[in-house]
Amino acid sequence: MSETNPTETLRVELGNRGYDILVGPGLIGRAGAAILPLLRRRQAVIVTDENVARHHLAALRESLAEHGIGTHTIVLPPGEGTKDFAHFGRLIDDILACGIERGTMLVALGGGVVGDITGFAAASVLRGIDFVQIPTTLLAQVDSSVGGKTAINTPAGKNLVGAFYQPRLVLADTGSLATLPRRETRAGYGEIVKYGLIRDADFFDWLEAEGRNVCDLEPAALTRAVMVSCRMKAAIVAADERETGDRALLNFGHTFGHALEAETGFGDRLLHGEAVALGMMLAFDFAVRLGLASGQDAHRLRHHLVDAGLPTTLAEIGLAEDAETAGRLLMHMRKDKKVRDGAITLILPRRIGDCFEMRDAPVDELRAFLAAT
Ligand code: GLY
Repeated sequence: MSETNPTETLRVELGNRGYDILVGPGLIGRAGAAILPLLRRRQAVIVTDENVARHHLAALRESLAEHGIGTHTIVLPPGEGTKDFAHFGRLIDDILACGIERGTMLVALGGGVVGDITGFAAASVLRGIDFVQIPTTLLAQVDSSVGGKTAINTPAGKNLVGAFYQPRLVLADTGSLATLPRRETRAGYGEIVKYGLIRDADFFDWLEAEGRNVCDLEPAALTRAVMVSCRMKAAIVAADERETGDRALLNFGHTFGHALEAETGFGDRLLHGEAVALGMMLAFDFAVRLGLASGQDAHRLRHHLVDAGLPTTLAEIGLAEDAETAGRLLMHMRKDKKVRDGAITLILPRRIGDCFEMRDAPVDELRAFLAAT
């Protein structure tokens, strides 16, 4: 990385829907220059939330204005509760009230919630307008802003209504992470560990040495972690945009994780990245129980997650390891989008750096495992 130009760029290769991901500090303040060449009309609607607006909205608006781009801004309430039909309907009305045309650009400034609901609005309004992702959480920078999954939640479950709809550009301003609570950073780090586990043992080795620096937002370590994660995600998405094959590996830890989030009420008690971290640990321990992975690798992962301040046991998040909890977790797992013919699909490890999809997980074993019997 050059000292004079700390921005790194990579491309998601999806033909005429391909796009760049820019990673580095200060990108929000330079967003106007990056977005201008993509515009058909010098009009943008920024969608953000109250917390992010406080820290980053002024810099973004100023940069767009410097390049003659007129803006409207819509500020959503923060939190997962915003990703519902009621807020989505209001967001669409508010976007339409800005007098948009097909050439208007939507700009999602925020974390996963803002990115997911704005992306889905971009896919829907006027049958689809362009949008840019400016992720301001570590989790959104390494996962949700890349790859075009957009969605809202319904009472039946998380992310059940949405579209695959790619952004035109992702600006991952690593400087914006400085305003995040430490717990949010750690939760996002869980998704970074995921990339080492599913595909890249060398990256996991590197995280064992440098993970603390990443969580401390040390610029070189942070940029490398975000770049390696985005590069891996970009390659997986380019090969399997609509998740008919290898993209499913990105769900490592997520079937357990979503069940844990559902059981703890999708809120502050357990953040998504924390649920994924614990979900990956459970997947590893379950693979060891099935004789598919080594206890030594599971031990390495446990040690690393504990070191990063992430949960590795049900007890830590206030859940019992008993038959009743196991039954409820299985009930949640059966609502997963990956269920086929009623069978639970799990991503399981063979070793650190190598995971596979198990289409018909043995439910009785799973129940006994979760109940610690
Ligand atoms: N977050 C998983 C994926 O984008 O496929």
